[in-house]
Amino acid sequence: MRKFPLVLCLAAAALSLAACKDQRQASGPAATGAAASAPVASASSTAGVSAPSADAGAKVVSASVTTAAAPSKLTPAAQVGQRMFFDPSLSGSGRISCATCHDPAHAYGPANDLSVQLGGADMKQAGTRAVPTLMYKDYTEPYSDEFQNPDMISPPAPGGGMTWDGRANTIAEQAAIPLLAANEMANPSAEAVVAALEHGPYADLFRQAFGQDAFADRKHAFELAGAALQSFQTEDRSFHPYSSKFDLFRNNKIGGTLTAAELHGLRLFVDPNKGNCVACHLIGGGNGGSQDITSDYSFAAIGVPRNRKIPANDDPNYFDMGLCGPLRTDHVPDPRGKGNNKGDKNGETCGMFKTPILRNVATRQAFMHNGVFHTLDEVVHFYNTRDTDPGRWYPRDAHGKVRKFDDLPARYHANIDDQMPLDGRRAGSKTPMTEDELKDLVTFLGTLTDGYAVPADAKPTPNVGVFGPATPPTPTPAQAAPTQKTAAR
Ligand code: HEC
Ligand code: HEC
Repeated sequence: MRKFPLVLCLAAAALSLAACKDQRQASGPAATGAAASAPVASASSTAGVSAPSADAGAKVVSASVTTAAAPSKLTPAAQVGQRMFFDPSLSGSGRISCATCHDPAHAYGPANDLSVQLGGADMKQAGTRAVPTLMYKDYTEPYSDEFQNPDMISPPAPGGGMTWDGRANTIAEQAAIPLLAANEMANPSAEAVVAALEHGPYADLFRQAFGQDAFADRKHAFELAGAALQSFQTEDRSFHPYSSKFDLFRNNKIGGTLTAAELHGLRLFVDPNKGNCVACHLIGGGNGGSQDITSDYSFAAIGVPRNRKIPANDDPNYFDMGLCGPLRTDHVPDPRGKGNNKGDKNGETCGMFKTPILRNVATRQAFMHNGVFHTLDEVVHFYNTRDTDPGRWYPRDAHGKVRKFDDLPARYHANIDDQMPLDGRRAGSKTPMTEDELKDLVTFLGTLTDGYAVPADAKPTPNVGVFGPATPPTPTPAQAAPTQKTAAR
């Protein structure tokens, strides 16, 4: 991030802001009826606990996220997108849809704990990256080398875009990747996808959304299909319900009282001398009226260990280096300084991946771009001890020396970010956080899960704010008393 040379900035910042307006489409007002017109509504498949309600009774944070708020009233385009999202006939195998990997009952992430998912015509082809959540993605602006960080403070640097390397500019563009990838939905061509739509059960809905001659131009129809998927992911509230306990806390609503452990975890998350997570996992106002997205869309190389469970990694010469390839092709290092590279002839972007959104992260079972970790406990321990105890994370070479950052060729190790808590401190030195602190940090991450059921006896909270003392004072009964009117919902 910080190390990326600043070349151009002002023009790009202006551009990315303008693009933001295009990207975020109008949200449909909450209403009933959409589910009826679309038999496989995400809302109906995850019905149950809806947005926080005071009558939920038990004090439980639902383990699997409930993404459905009130059903959204979807435009015809979004209804097409909804049908497509759950339609396995849009795959070469006839067996997977978007929802297979992006399951609405699992925060639009995978239902299993595999590092990478299987797809392809025979359903045996492994992916190379972990499946991200699709929630809160509609605020992401297109990728730029000089992205204006939504914190409005950090200098322009690579940021934005869809996928772990930002190579698709919009959700609409992104859809073409899984539809055509041989190890995902494996359609032979865009034309084949369009033909399936034209002869499928919701062809009329497609025409209603995009015009009677919508299928006439195959190339254009394929773009419309992407637009339909984007409309669904933008309009349907289940993709951005803002129904976590943390949202209640941030907006000072009943039910938003964080426990001492949760509050302590939050303090660690924002403390520059402890977790410092907020430096990349932004909390605060974001693009397009979003709040607390928990990503600033920046790219950073944090050097996670190579995942030997990914078949592609059987080839010792294969490295997934994020921004500089191989899936993304416009930043491939070019030692001669020619070709299609954008100023990173020395591979300054190698190893960098997009900072993921941490909302609903506690529902995930595979973490990081390569899915190398499987619990949040492992993730926070990695942040805490990557440098102090590298032998815990990386293999040893023939001489017994720890091969730190074994998933990035040595010539790019200078790209590894050096912000807290990964500040490059010596092996054997003191860790940034204690074991107890790590526990609280994980507890806090649990408050980011949507579908929080507010306990029946919940009281209004005193607004303690995000940036408080690292160790919160125990509230006295007087402080905890519901004195503020603003606290009531
Ligand atoms: C076989 C599993 C699989 C299927 C099926 C699948 N995806 Fe994905 N999806 C992934 C993976 C893996 C990534 C990350 C790709 C990367 O970083 O290169 C991803 C990324 C995305 C992203 C970008 C999210 C982000 O954080 O940047 C969107 C949007 C998306 N998928 C939508 C869809 C849609 C729409 C469909 C159906 C047309 C679909 N996916 C089908 C596995 C899948
Ligand atoms: C320098 C920026 C930066 C800082 C600071 C940072 N992160 Fe991250 N975080 C990232 C990036 C980039 C990734 C993805 C890395 C990859 O996949 O190679 C990531 C991935 C994660 C993931 C995996 C999420 C998923 O969906 O797979 C979790 C969880 C996480 N970070 C939590 C934290 C916590 C907790 C802290 C503070 C202790 C923290 N991060 C500090 C940038 C940062």
